[in-house]
Amino acid sequence: MTAAVKASGVGKVFPTGKGDVTALTDVDLEVAAGEFVSLIGPSGCGKSTLLRLIADLDPATTGTLEIFGKPARTARIDQDYGIAFQQAGLLPWRSVAANIALPLELHRMPKPEREARVAELIQLVGLTDFAGRYPDQLSGGMQQRVAIARALASRPKLLLMDEPFGALDEMTREYLQGELTRIAVETGAAVVFVTHSIPEAVFLSDRVVVMSPRPGRITDILTTGLGAVRDETLRESPAYFERVTAVREALHGTPVERANER
Ligand SMILES: Nc1ncnc2c1ncn2[C@@H]1O[C@H](COP(=O)(O)OP(=O)(O)O)[C@@H](O)[C@H]1O
Ligand SMILES: [Mg+2]
Repeated sequence: MTAAVKASGVGKVFPTGKGDVTALTDVDLEVAAGEFVSLIGPSGCGKSTLLRLIADLDPATTGTLEIFGKPARTARIDQDYGIAFQQAGLLPWRSVAANIALPLELHRMPKPEREARVAELIQLVGLTDFAGRYPDQLSGGMQQRVAIARALASRPKLLLMDEPFGALDEMTREYLQGELTRIAVETGAAVVFVTHSIPEAVFLSDRVVVMSPRPGRITDILTTGLGAVRDETLRESPAYFERVTAVREALHGTPVERANER
């Protein structure tokens, strides 16, 4: 099966007034169809840059990016993926239903079909009783659910998410993590998810890509092996704690390595 994302030798340099900033170097990464992959690392390691290159919001300086076997540019034009950011970015004058309908309107989907699809999406993200509400009448978590529904409107097989739960309280965040894994399984979409939360990355992902800054690069890729069921009992399981520790050590070094550096 064609990979959802294939990055080969990808680098990104930003020319600035104070010289070049190498945001990414030598990135090789393949995300399988239906796979959930998180990008984790300290601020400035190039997570957002990598996501933006995948989405063709910025061009790569070196290397190639393919989305389902197509150049990133073609995939963007074909709208092969949905995107969600930390800010939900909803239009305040549109209701929940009308915000979700927007990409379908842009695609000129006929009204009856569009209304059916919107109802389906609203149910998928659990907002059935809120279809007629406006963004300022929703909690932050509900706004993010609308943003996720909107990103999924055209049935993309790839979802790109940059810290979508970063502005939410911990309880809402954990709840939405569970919802997102369910949605990813139900839709069969691959997900590339940027976060700086270790527990979040482990809970959500099939694989966790560990990055480090100056220059931004991939230093480790860990397979969680936690299986398809991601529920609250998983958060208390030894296997989960073990993977959290493994990712933490990949990010910061093992306690022994850290002691040796002092
Ligand atoms: N448009 C830009 N112009 C110049 N430098 C940039 C630009 N975008 C990002 N950078 C730099 O690239 C590096 C990676 O940034 P970013 O991808 O935003 O990191 P992260 O999302 O991991 O925090 C940082 O050093 C950042 O300052
Ligand atoms: Mg970022």
